Amino acid sequence: MTEFSRRDIGKILGSASTAAIVGGPAGLAKAAPTDLSFPKDFRWGCATAAYQIEGAVNEDGRGPTNWDVFSHTPGKVFGNDNGDVATDSYHRYAEDTQLLKNLGVSSYRLSLAWSRIFPTGRGKPNQKGVDHYNRVLDNLLENGIEPYVTMFHWDYPAALPGGWQNRDTSKAFAEYAGYMAGQITDRVKNIMTVNELRCFTDLSYKVGIHAPGMKLPDAEANQVRHNGVLAHGLSVQAIRAHAKPGTKVGIADNTVIHVPVMETPEHVAAAQKATRVNNAMFLTAIMEGRYIDEYLTQEGANAPKVQAGDMEAIGSPLDFVALNIYAPEWVRADDSPRGFAVIPHIPSSPRMASPWLIVGPEVGYWGVRQVSELWKPNVMYISENGASADDPLTNGRVDDADRVMYLRNYVGQFHRAVAEGYPLKGYFLWSLLDNFEWADGYSKRFGIHYVDFKTQQRIPKLSAAWYKEVIRNNRIV
Ligand code: NOJ
Repeated sequence: MTEFSRRDIGKILGSASTAAIVGGPAGLAKAAPTDLSFPKDFRWGCATAAYQIEGAVNEDGRGPTNWDVFSHTPGKVFGNDNGDVATDSYHRYAEDTQLLKNLGVSSYRLSLAWSRIFPTGRGKPNQKGVDHYNRVLDNLLENGIEPYVTMFHWDYPAALPGGWQNRDTSKAFAEYAGYMAGQITDRVKNIMTVNELRCFTDLSYKVGIHAPGMKLPDAEANQVRHNGVLAHGLSVQAIRAHAKPGTKVGIADNTVIHVPVMETPEHVAAAQKATRVNNAMFLTAIMEGRYIDEYLTQEGANAPKVQAGDMEAIGSPLDFVALNIYAPEWVRADDSPRGFAVIPHIPSSPRMASPWLIVGPEVGYWGVRQVSELWKPNVMYISENGASADDPLTNGRVDDADRVMYLRNYVGQFHRAVAEGYPLKGYFLWSLLDNFEWADGYSKRFGIHYVDFKTQQRIPKLSAAWYKEVIRNNRIV
């Protein structure tokens, strides 16, 4: 076996590469380990959503929602599960606050249930619903946790005629969001309008696997998308009109992020272009205040019908952009007129417990970088990132090393974005605890706390211990 001296290795690798060997074979010079710490003011948090955790669907005047109707329709949700009880957080919110406090998070992203405030969508507000959220917010603040509030995370009052097919729903949403901004912005400094445009429009009205489960033709589905971005835009205006000065308003979107297959200029440029074009109906419209030509040409006669003032509202400037980051979409440059090709996922693409949850940590870095370069928001957050896992409960423990692997790799990519100077200011892990995973019911667990849905006992998983250490050290562990 050939023996190499340090100098030989240096000659082979070049001195910079030699210095990068950390913890290498004995006798080699060790460079300082890569600094995996985050800036002091980086915000660590967890995220949840009302219908997924609250339960108490008939309490204190709450009106029925699209998801109550859908989940009670046989065959729509796995196991015919529903959110009637969920994690019972309507009653156990103080216990959940203690889970957050034990983790050491500085922030918590939660959503408000529109139908607790306006049971039929508009009209006279239901004070009991407002009181509930005041208690939840006060309890968080008393425990040193800053709430980030999402106004709409998919549950709307079932009484609204036509749901998102009707542009009046966008106006009703803005009225509700404005009203709640007036109620809570003495304490809440950051508001997200809507969560994941693509899901509450396309999955609900085009693909049909989410409430209300419709499969509309393209022209009508495009109008639903338009009503979605319009709801966002009108609510930005309404929130600003009613909120205390200094309130920051943004969106939590699951922008499709195209990841370059190689980090070379042509693929990097192709991926960035793909991200802009393939989100033309959502984040691109919001950030640019228009539907770009590629989208209008592609949709032709099916393009959304736009009324005067719509695009101005949709393009309302935001204080921050937040991304829900999960699966990547790989892209390579090619010589088609569009200049890019999306590479389909195949059975060997690695994934977590949900079939759609392809593992590709680089999507974290590219998501932040592309959005930052395309539209230059001053502040960005990761409003969600997390993973489903099988989570066997064994002798009272859930050793979810697979979720820890997933999280560590994604957080590593967010770290890279921060280290390169992109304006990422915080990270919300999805989710604080196992909960109602929409069409998958309770069959998919995303929590870092295990929930025994029979007893409502919460058990911290290994991933909770990992996240606590990340937060305590303010670096990747
Ligand atoms: C995004 C959604 O916002 C959230 O509600 C859902 O549970 C997670 N993704 C996991 O699928």
